[in-house]
Amino acid sequence: MAMTAPSITPMRADEVPVLEEWAAQEGWNPGLADLAIAYAVDPAAFIALRRGDELIGGGTIFSHSSQFGFMGLFIIRAALRGQGLGTELWHQRLTLLRGRLVPGATIGMDGVFAMVPFYEKGGFRLAHRDLRFEGIAHGVTDPQARPYPEISFGEIAAYDRRFFPAPRPAFLLRWLEQPGAQVLGLRGEHGLSGYGVARPCRSGFKLGPVFADSPDVAERLIGSLLAAIPGEKVALDVPEPNGAGLELAAKFGLRESFGCARMYHGPAPALPLDGIFGVTSFEFG
Ligand SMILES: CC(C)(COP(=O)(O)OP(=O)(O)OC[C@H]1O[C@@H](n2cnc3c(N)ncnc32)[C@H](O)[C@@H]1OP(=O)(O)O)[C@@H](O)C(=O)NCCC(=O)NCCS
Repeated sequence: MAMTAPSITPMRADEVPVLEEWAAQEGWNPGLADLAIAYAVDPAAFIALRRGDELIGGGTIFSHSSQFGFMGLFIIRAALRGQGLGTELWHQRLTLLRGRLVPGATIGMDGVFAMVPFYEKGGFRLAHRDLRFEGIAHGVTDPQARPYPEISFGEIAAYDRRFFPAPRPAFLLRWLEQPGAQVLGLRGEHGLSGYGVARPCRSGFKLGPVFADSPDVAERLIGSLLAAIPGEKVALDVPEPNGAGLELAAKFGLRESFGCARMYHGPAPALPLDGIFGVTSFEFG
């Protein structure tokens, strides 16, 4: 009897935890609320590969205000890899995402290094590496660090816009308000000079985003965030071109453990990488 042909369709809400579990099995240690937030903001971002009724693969194609897309969570069930299913799913996701964005919008992704040649064949170009640093949280609280919402959503959203290729208010609001998150900002002479988020994950916490005007502000923010979660396992994803960011990770005792290739389809956005001390997420940008 012929096997049912696979189909690619929107993912159902009850399948999202399955994708999350697969991501955990890959060792990606998703934030406890990451996928639920993304699904709440952009349910059409979740794409399923099914055979009959069975989920056999998936991936996300997140639209940030239709202006910037991000591909993530590309996974085929382990027993079915290497048969071309991933290629089919990936190209359909790219086509679907391009159709969800304004014409010519850039699409980003953080891909595993081994897959860079595959993504290059699909039209992506390597921009830089994003390196994951991990360790145990310990830090000192800066007395001037203020929590959200004492630092207002408006301040954070305006500041965030300088470091991200598109506005992302709905995503950001849920990110800041997720259970268990620590959100701190520092104000300077001209308003906010940096902000950072620590969020609970399957294992420990991840910091992200951490955006700051200078390495000094970033150090005070990271120290304060780590002081809020003492003794927890923590991860920080730093763009490699930010040398001061790499030094800060080392200064806080974090060790390089993993990394991704930040790639773009379309023109690379002109981001101030020297102010990005922690990427928001490898899955949603
Ligand atoms: C990546 C993945 C989704 C591909 O699915 P798949 O069904 O095995 O894909 P295909 O059989 O269509 O192969 C697609 C390409 O991936 C490449 N590939 C898959 N796994 C790879 C690996 N570990 N290292 C290098 N290349 C790999 C294949 O060589 C092929 O490239 P080619 O066309 O240039 O030869 C699947 O291997 C998977 O779930 N991996 C674990 C999760 C993961 O790493 N996802 C990617 C995150 S960026």
